[in-house]
Order: sequence, then C-alpha cells, then structure tokens
Amino acid sequence: MLLARMPAQRAARPLPNNVSSLCCVRCGRHSTEFWEWTCRDCGPEGRMDVRYQPLAAGLMANRLNGRAWDQWRYRELLPLPDGARLPPLTVGGSPLSEAPRLAQHLGVRRVVVKDDGRNPSASLKDRASAIGVVLAVAVGAERIACASTGNAASSCACIAASMGLPATIFVPRRAPLPKVAQLRMFGAQVFRVDADYDTTWELAAQVTARHGWFDRNAAVNPYLVEGKKTVALELAEQLGPNGADWVAVSVGDGCTLAGVVKGLEEAVSAGLLRQVPRVLAVQARGAAPLVHAAQQGRPFAPEPAETVADSICVGHPRNADKALLAMARNGGAWIEVDDRDILAAMSDLAQLAGVFAEPAGATGGAGVAAAVAQGIIDPTATVAILVTGNGLKDIDTAIKMVTPPIDVAADVAAVERALLAADGN
Ligand SMILES: Cc1ncc(COP(=O)(O)O)c(C=O)c1O
Ligand SMILES: [Zn+2]
Repeated sequence: MLLARMPAQRAARPLPNNVSSLCCVRCGRHSTEFWEWTCRDCGPEGRMDVRYQPLAAGLMANRLNGRAWDQWRYRELLPLPDGARLPPLTVGGSPLSEAPRLAQHLGVRRVVVKDDGRNPSASLKDRASAIGVVLAVAVGAERIACASTGNAASSCACIAASMGLPATIFVPRRAPLPKVAQLRMFGAQVFRVDADYDTTWELAAQVTARHGWFDRNAAVNPYLVEGKKTVALELAEQLGPNGADWVAVSVGDGCTLAGVVKGLEEAVSAGLLRQVPRVLAVQARGAAPLVHAAQQGRPFAPEPAETVADSICVGHPRNADKALLAMARNGGAWIEVDDRDILAAMSDLAQLAGVFAEPAGATGGAGVAAAVAQGIIDPTATVAILVTGNGLKDIDTAIKMVTPPIDVAADVAAVERALLAADGN
C-alpha cells in the first residue's frame, strides 16, 4: 500500500524577465508565479499559456542575423531564466526540403517537408524536452519525469543525459522497442506500465507530484509548448515572408499543434511572415477525439484509441483546450485519416521525398492527401508537411510494409540470375 506523500513544496520563483505572465486559457486570469502551471481558479484543467513582454517579438527579429541555426535563436520568445545553462546538443534547426514529386502526386503546386526527425533523439519532442531540462536544471530539480507514448520520453532522456540530469520515464506497454532502447541507452530509469497511454499518464502524474520531480509533461507544464513552437518560427524563416498556404501536423495530445499555431502567430508578430498560414490538424481515425469535438462544435470527450501511429494513439488528449482554441483562432481544418492512408503517406514521403517518417510523423502527409481529395486544400496551394518523428523509431511497422530484399549468394552469376528473374516479374 502507498504511504500518503504530499507533493513537495516549492519556493516561490519569479517568471523569466521576458515573460509577462502565465495566462489561463479557460478563464483568462494572469499569474506571475513560475509554478502556477494549472490555474488556481479553474483547477487541473485550467492550462496556462506563456505570455511575453510586448516588445519581445520585435526585439528577437532584429537580433536573428548571425545567430546559430538552432531553437535558441528565438530566445526572446522562450521562457529561459537569465544565464540558464543550455544543452550541448543542437536542438531544432531542422532542414526544409522541396518535394516536387510529392507535390505532383498529391495534386498541389508546391510541397515542402520539414524533417524534425533530424533532432538529437529523432523527433520534434526534443524541442520541448530541451526547455524542460533547461528549466529543471535552472531551478535545481533533482530529477525530471515524463509519461509519453515514446518520443517525449526518449527525447527527455536524451537531453537530460546531455546535461547530467537524472530522468524517470513512464511508457505504455505498446511503446515500440526502438524508443525503449533509446531510453535505456540514454540511462533513464524506465517504467513500462502494463496499461495504455492514458492510464500511464495518470500514474506518472501522481508519482511525479508525490516526489516533487520536475514534470516534463507538455500538457501540464506550460513552458514546453514554447519549445514546440520553434518549429513554426524556423519554418517561417525558411519559407520567407509569403510562407505557405497550409501547414500540416499530426495531433495526439494537442501540444504540438498548439505550439505550431502559436509559433506561426508569433512569426507574424515578429515580421517573419505576412500572414498566418492555415493549419491542417490531422488525427488517426481510430484516435480522433479532437477532430470529433471540433467538427461537432462541442468540448472533447475521451474515446477509446487504436491506431498504427503509436505516438498519436491518444484517447484522452491532455491539451484539448489549447489545441481547440488555437485552431479556432487559426481557421484551419481538422481531418482524420485511416491507418492505411498513414502507411501510404509513409511510403510516399520516403519514395517521393526521401524522408523516412514513423507513422505519426507521416500522418500530416496523409492529412494533406485527404484534404486535397475533399477540396479543403486547393491545387494551387503551397503546403508544408511537418514530419515529427523518424521512421527508425518504429521499424516493425516499416518492415511489415515492404517486400523483403532479394536474397542472393555472393556471386555475380547469382545476381544476374536474380536480375533476370526480377525483370520477369
Ligand atoms: C512523432 C510524433 N508526432 C506527433 C505527435 C503528436 O504530438 P502531441 O501529442 O503534442 O499532439 C507526437 C507525440 O508524441 C509524436 O511523437
Ligand atoms: Zn483559469
């Protein structure tokens, strides 16, 4: 039986100088207390959003020239305490590639692919984890903790290892082995919970609070979304002021989506973009509670979740408010796609653009195909697809999708015979 243990008391702390307040997305109340991560008035569902001093975006824009191509170039719009120690790894700064063959296949004028699988632990989550670990170190936390479908976990373990901070991680039973391997290689303490992600999340939240560990949970910890938004600031710089008509992103808890919308808005405030592109928010059909809520104009309700895209297999999204509100501001579109469309998008991204995405990483691409077919995206559009995780993260799915290689003896004649046989097929 568990002994009762109170959450550790924390010393009051001011916000970083460039942050003006934390603002509750439900009631609009502002707080200047660093630790008020959920709203005192609204309770645990009152998610807080980080607000910056009015001049921060303009200041940042004037200083970008000459700064390193990583996410810290946006530091005026990040919640970093003065003198905070940053990880030695390069976080963010992912490449953007033109994908003309994919554009032709999808039936739109231009497609660009932003490959966030090219981060230190091979997913976009490194952007958020880096903020989490930097803040945990800055406040003198003894340990950082996280529950995750896999990628937030492996990124937390990765960045924590780079800064010498102990990490405790909770993953659901179905987390793919490569992600578990990453966790253990990075030296994290890992609990594989005999439950789905939603239950794992609850368990981790309780244990983390009881021990007073620093919570790397992008839904509850308001600072982490700030890392995620840097993908959109980079995209804005890479595309130039005309930007894109659409930015497609996959959605599980909704933190990435909220970050992307916020980053695009801030890119406009900073003068990097002329207008905010529309965002295509894509969920797998088997795990689409936010799509259903948005399309029916009601608050979200938890639903059972099942999809090949393990990273977005989320029935109880933890950042529903932020995600739904962000999309209401953005005026983009919600869409759900079948697992077979997700697998097709994985092949298309790999074979037509040379980008190997895990299923959730390719789901944005699947959404574009569906949105073009449904007339949501116009054929004249420029579309940016965010690839949020690398394909090597879920090798079982990839291997099941492809035919095996041609087995052959180490002999020229054998290869020639195999070539002839292959031609005949
Ligand atoms: C590869 C990948 N894509 C997309 C997402 C969705 O992000 P969010 O849960 O913040 O909506 C995740 C989250 O784990 C992910 O790992
Ligand atoms: Zn509130």
